[in-house]
Amino acid sequence: MYSRRVAAIKSVSVIGAGLMGSGIAQVAAQADYKVTMVDQTDAALQNGKNIIQKSIERVARKKFADDKDKQQAFINKALDNITLSTDSLAAAQSDLIVEAIVENIDVKQKLFAGLDKAASKDTIFASNTSSLPITAIASATTAERQTRFAGLHFFNPVPAMKLVEIIRTATLTDAVYQDLVDFSIKTGKTPVECKDTPGFIVNRLLVPYMMEAFRILDRGEASAKDIDTAMKLGAGMPMGPIELADFVGLDTTKFIVDGWAKEGRIEPALVQPSKTLEDLVAKGHLGRKSGKGFYDYSK
Ligand code: CAA
Ligand code: NAD
Repeated sequence: MYSRRVAAIKSVSVIGAGLMGSGIAQVAAQADYKVTMVDQTDAALQNGKNIIQKSIERVARKKFADDKDKQQAFINKALDNITLSTDSLAAAQSDLIVEAIVENIDVKQKLFAGLDKAASKDTIFASNTSSLPITAIASATTAERQTRFAGLHFFNPVPAMKLVEIIRTATLTDAVYQDLVDFSIKTGKTPVECKDTPGFIVNRLLVPYMMEAFRILDRGEASAKDIDTAMKLGAGMPMGPIELADFVGLDTTKFIVDGWAKEGRIEPALVQPSKTLEDLVAKGHLGRKSGKGFYDYSK
C-alpha cells in the first residue's frame, strides 16, 4: 500500500517531446526536479530541446531582466536537470511519469502497459491527455497501479499557462492526489480538481467553442480573421478560436473531437465534424507546429 513520503516526487519522466511534453519537462526542470524527456526519435527529442531553449531564454530574460549572468546560470541549471532518451523504459526509473504523446487511446495504453511492468510499484503514472478517459488509459495497468494513476492536464504554452487540472479517478488514493497537488504547485501552477469526464473542465468548454468557430467558417458566415478579431475585442479572449486551434495543433483538435464522437459521452451536436478542419488535417496543415494551418506561419 502506497503511503506519502516526504517530498515523494524527486524525479520526473516526461514521455513525448512535442509541444506539451517539452513544456512539462521545462517547468519541472526549472523547479529542480531531475527530468528524463523521452521520445521515439532523436529528431523528435531535438525538436523538444529547441522548444525548451527558446522558451527558457524568454523565462530567464523576464526573471533576471538586467543580469545576463544570472539568466545564463538559471538556464544552465534547468537544462542540466534534463536527460534525453529514446528508450521509453528509461522513463520507468522516475518517481512520476507524465505521458504527453499522441492523443490516441491504443498508443497510450500500450505505452503504459509496458511502463507498468518496468516501473517501481511506487511510481506515479499520469497522462496529459486532453480528452481521453483516464480510467480507460489506466485500465492497461494493474489494479494496484490504478490507485496511483491520474490525469495531470497542463495547458499550452506550459511555461506561461498557470493551470493544471488534476483528474481524480475513482481509484486514485488521497495520498497520490496530494503528491500531484504538491508537484503542480512546485512547478508554479494552480491545480484544480475534476472528475474523469470528457474534456474535464477547460476542454469541455473550449473545444465545442472552437468547433462552432470552424462551422462559422464552413458556412461561409465570416472570415477566420474576423472571427478571431471578434472574440479578442468583443469577448476579451487573448487569442481568437481559430488562431487558438492553430496554436493547439489541428491534428490534436481533430483527435479530441473524433474521439468524443466515437465514444458518445458528449452531446453529438457539440462534436459535429467541420469540413474546413478535416481538409486542413488531410493536407498535413496542422497549425503553427507545421508552419501552416488556418493561417500561414511560414514567413
Ligand atoms: N514560454 C515561456 N513564456 C511564455 C511563452 C512560452 N512559450 N509564451 C508566452 N510566454 C509568457 C511571456 O513571457 C509573457 O509573460 P509576462 O506577461 O509575465 O511578461 C506572457 O506569457 C504573455 O506573452 P506575450 O506578451 O509574448 O504574448 P501574449 O500576450 O500574446 O500571450 C499567450 C501569449 C500566453 C500564448 C496568450 O496569447 C494566451 O494566453 N493565449 C491563449 C492560450 C490558451 O488558451 N491556451 C490553452 C489552450 S487549450 C489547452 O492547452 C488544452 C488542451 O488540452 C488542448
Ligand atoms: P505533439 O504532436 O506536439 O507531440 C507529441 C509527441 O509524442 C511527438 O514528439 C511524438 O513523436 C511523440 N510520440 C508519439 N508516440 C510516442 C510514443 N509511443 N512514445 C514516445 N513518444 C511518442 O502533441 P502535443 O500537442 O504535445 O500533445 C501531446 C498530448 O498532450 C496529447 O495527449 C494532447 O491531447 C495533450 N495536450 C495537448 C495540448 C495542446 O495544446 N497541444 C494541450 C494539453 C494537452
